[in-house]
Formats: sequence, structure tokens, C-alpha cells
Amino acid sequence: MRMTDERSSVRVTAMCGIVGYVGGRPALSIVLDGLRRLEYRGYDSAGVAVVEDGTVLTQKKAGKLANLEKALAEAADPGIAAGPTGIGHTRWATHGGPTDRNAHPHVSQDGNVAVIHNGIIENFSRLRAELEATGVEFASDTDTECAAHLLAGEVRALRESGLADGPELLAEGMRRTVRRLEGAFTLLAIDVRVPDAVVAARRNSPLVVGRGNGENFLASDVSAFIEYTRDAIELGQDQVVLITPAGIEITGFDGSPQEGKEFHIDWDASAAEKGGYDYFMLKEIAEQPQAIADTLLGRLSDRGEIVLDEVRLTDQDLRDVDKIFIIACGTSYNAGMVAKYAIEHWVRLPCEVELASEFRYRDPILDRSTLVIVISQSGETMDTLMALRHAKEQKARVLAICNTNGSTIPRESDAVLYTHGGPEIAVASTKAFLTQLVACYLIGLHLAQVRGVMYADEVAAVVEKLQSTPDSLRGLLDSMEDVRALGRDLKTASTVLFIGRHVGYPVALEGALKLKELAYMHAEGFAAGELKHGPIALIDQGTPVVCVVPSPAGRGVMRDKVVSNIQEVRARGARTIVIAEEGDDDVAAFADHLIRVPATPTLLAPLMTTVPLQILACEIASARGHDVDQPRNLAKSVTVE
Ligand code: M6R
Repeated sequence: MRMTDERSSVRVTAMCGIVGYVGGRPALSIVLDGLRRLEYRGYDSAGVAVVEDGTVLTQKKAGKLANLEKALAEAADPGIAAGPTGIGHTRWATHGGPTDRNAHPHVSQDGNVAVIHNGIIENFSRLRAELEATGVEFASDTDTECAAHLLAGEVRALRESGLADGPELLAEGMRRTVRRLEGAFTLLAIDVRVPDAVVAARRNSPLVVGRGNGENFLASDVSAFIEYTRDAIELGQDQVVLITPAGIEITGFDGSPQEGKEFHIDWDASAAEKGGYDYFMLKEIAEQPQAIADTLLGRLSDRGEIVLDEVRLTDQDLRDVDKIFIIACGTSYNAGMVAKYAIEHWVRLPCEVELASEFRYRDPILDRSTLVIVISQSGETMDTLMALRHAKEQKARVLAICNTNGSTIPRESDAVLYTHGGPEIAVASTKAFLTQLVACYLIGLHLAQVRGVMYADEVAAVVEKLQSTPDSLRGLLDSMEDVRALGRDLKTASTVLFIGRHVGYPVALEGALKLKELAYMHAEGFAAGELKHGPIALIDQGTPVVCVVPSPAGRGVMRDKVVSNIQEVRARGARTIVIAEEGDDDVAAFADHLIRVPATPTLLAPLMTTVPLQILACEIASARGHDVDQPRNLAKSVTVE
């Protein structure tokens, strides 16, 4: 939800989790289950609405879902607990106080319609003024409330024109409503007089449908209903979907019959549970060896070649490429930076990495021969989606690396390589990063193979190393006790710096990003050689500096330069935490803390060196008493620009 008040220039922006259910069971418990799984998308407030016995019953509360659950328990309303049709919402806001009053659902003035919303209604101020002129009194500051009043008005008008009460009336009301809205939105609505239907509309904001037996589901992502069904439908842009216990009907905003794309979810509910870990993040860190193995599965032939059948670009398309852009945000951007080193080395094509939010504003030069690789765990990041569209407008070919089936970014791309990481619930990205790296390596090797710039045995040698990483990683994960102790020890540090060269540089950025977002500490990553050009002034007696040391088996000079940089920071009082591969004994002399990782070829090293940094950040955050899975101010899926 975003509120844009043009008069006062106050702008409130939010990304949210959305669930809808209709069927034979009480909706409330199913909707709450879904919200629990979607809470990572936003946790500023939560709310539910259920149709029961000719009334819309709502409950909503500022703060985490637990507050809503407590309010529901205290109210002990048998009606809300029993109704078979319901919707629920978790909200995230960047500005503005998240309050009970602004929490969703929003109910129309006549009490007939309840609406939840993710996205932005850009023409909110104008619509609000129009509605107020007709006597509507607003009960919140949100843009969403406009949609509730508009929908109620459209439904009323349709009834008055003689259309009988029923699901179709609600769907037509929604179509008429969304035709008046500008911006990006997913809207879900229920109506007292249509007790067996939930209607939804989608434009530039995520929504998937779950197909059950005598029951159907709507949600921002499949994790919300995975416990009940693994059959899902991905929707296109500008579609309205109506779910009833008996069926699913999809139309365009103009009413034309349309179809979604059916898919089967290949992971089960347990993948979205903590499974005995204190945090999802710890579970997801532990899942990394399997996630890498799953991402490699089926993509390698017996002869060690890369087989990317699902990448719908012909070999000729790939041979025609003369330039590559990699576009992403946050952790996915850091993965893209690693990919640049690998692709330029293996494929010998120029490759630029861009922050998605900056890409289109600098008029990048793209054409048919440009390959744009967009990387996104969620597949819904608005900055990345907008960059993708900009690339497509200029006729570039777009290949997505994505973890989320049914999401917008892969659907709008020319080709997709899915990472098979399974659901990532913790806001901080961990297994998504490592599987993105694997996907980038596969694409780099595939390009090199197709373009004939690497010999088959060279590709096979890298592939063999990639295949051995899950085992190496398991060993590494078993030896992290010292890193945990170090994390507890660092909990009072005021700043932590990270340095690395070559692929160690994005690892340093990723280590700093993890620490910032989880521990709320000042942390910065630098190219090790850049430190002496300014940032070295930050180093004081005892400043922790994490140093990512390249393998001595790679370019020896690179490793030696990093060792010199470590000496430089030590000479200025830094407390050095050195990450170096097993067998590199010389570095021990420069390390206050030495973290060993298994020896790995230079370009693949981030698959190892990142992991201690994930654990370090998690441990420091937990020692500081923070909610590791849901850090303040963040949301998992950033669906606004
Ligand atoms: O879903 P995406 O990969 O597109 O998300 C991009 C970033 O928002 C994301 O990686 C973010 O930086 C993570 N919270 C970092 O841990």
C-alpha cells in the first residue's frame, strides 16, 4: 500500500503480503497460516476480514502478526473464526506511522466490501476528493480505502441496474474499479452479499492462484498455500481473477476471458518451516549445500557439458551476443559482480554490472546483440523489473536468474534459469546468493561452450569442481563454532570493515550488507586496493577488518597484494579477521582470527568465503538481541521503486 497525498507531499509506500481463501473450511485459520508464511514481506501491521452470516467481520492490528493473533484470541468472535471466505494482509511501510487505522483490510462506508492491497494507487488523491465530494467519509489515510469505496459503489450500481447478486457481479465490479485506478496494485476483495467468492486484480504487483479441491487460494506467493495445494496458476498483467469453491475464472480488465499458466510447486510445506532452527536464516544457511546441488541437477551432461534446455535462447542467439549487462539489486547485485569476473574470463565478452535502480537513468546503449541478465530471488523486485522492461524496449534479449516460479521477472524475460533454492523466508538472502552464483557460473560456462571459447575438457574441469562444492560446503558448515564465538565477541563493535580483491570484493560487499541489515551496525565493503585512497582513515585501534584472501593457487600476485593490504590495516591498529583457504599457511601470521575455508578454484571461491560472513552477521545480530529473520525497516520482496 502506498499513500500519496499530493496536497501535503507526504508519501507512504509499502510492500505487503496478501492471502485469500474460499472453500469449505473456516477461512480464518487458513488465512492466518498464509500470513505467517508471508510475514517476511512486511510486518508493520496485519489484518483479516471474513464474510460470515451476511456481515464482513474484520480484525486488524499495528505491529507483527502476533499482535493480530492476540487481538483475535481476546475477541474470541465465533463468527470470524467460522466464516468460509476470507482475506488477510501483512504490511510494510517506508514512511508514516503504521497504525491500527491504516492497517488492512479497509471496509467500504456501507460495510459491504472489504479490500486488501499491495502496490500504489497513483491517482489516489483525485479519487479521494471525488469520493469525499459524494459524501464518503474516509476512515484511514491510505490509498487502498479508495478502492474499497469505489468497488462498493460499482457493485451497488450493478445491482441497481438489475444484475443478480453472485460472483460475477463482484468480478464485474472489480473490473470497473480497476479501470479507474492508475499505478501498480494487487487488490483482493470480499462482499457480504457474495459470501462464496474472493475477487482479485493484478497490475505490476505479485499474485498467484492456488487450485485446491473444492477450495481455492490467492496469495502474493505460493508459500502461503503450499500446505494445502501444490497446484498453482501464474497470472498475467492486468487480469482479474475470481475464485469460488467450484472454480477459478480469469478475465482481462475489459472482461475478455483469459488464461493463466498452470504450474506445479516442487517443494513442500516443510521447506517453509523453521525445522528446529532458531531462525529461518540459520536453516537457509544450512540448506546451502543441497540448494547448490539442486541448482546443478539436470544441467550437466554425463560428458561434463552444460545443458540449459530450459533457457529459451538458441545457440545462434548466444553466438550473436556482443555485450552483456547484469542487472540486479542488493545481494543479487553482488552475485552479478562475481558473475562479471567469471563471464569476462571464460567468455571473453564485455560484461557490465548495474544496479537496477540506476540502470535506465543513464541511457545505457543496448541493441539486439546485447544480452541482459537480470538476477532476482523473488522475481518481483520493482527496480529490476523496470530495468528489464527498459532493456526489452531497446530490443535487448533478457535472461532472468530467479528463484520464484510464477513471478513477474521470469515471465517477462525472454528466457529464464531457475535457481532451485526452495523458499527463502529470512529477509537476509543466503542460499539465494549461492544458488545465483551457481546459475551465473552455468550461464558463463554455457556461453563459453556455445561460442567455442573454452575447450570441452576445460568446461568439464570447472563443472567437476562445481559438483564438489556441496560436500566442501557441508564440511565448512560443520566447522563454524569459532566464527560464532567471534560473532558474540564482536557484538559491541561500532564498525566492521570488509576488504577483498577480484571476486573477493563482492564477497566483502555481501559480508558488509549482511551485517548492516541484520545487526544495524556500520559496516562497509571495499576493494582492498582502494582502502589506501581514503577509507583507511576509518581504521582505529581494534577496528575489526574482515579480509577475504584469494587462493594462492590463482593469480599469486593478487593474493600477495591482499596480504600487503592486511599488513597495512594491521599497522594502523586493525583487528584482522582473515578468511583464507586451507593450506595457505603464510597468512596466519597476519591474522588475529583465522577462518579457514576449503580450497576452491579462484572464480568459485565465493561459494565458500561468503558462508562464514553470513554466520558472523547472524551471530552478531542475535547477540545484539535483534530479530534475525525480520530486521527492522526491511521487507523480503521490494515491489516498489
Ligand atoms: O528478490 P531480489 O533478489 O530481487 O531482491 C534484491 C534485494 O532486495 C535483496 O537481495 C536484498 O538486498 C536482501 N535483503 C539482502 O540480504
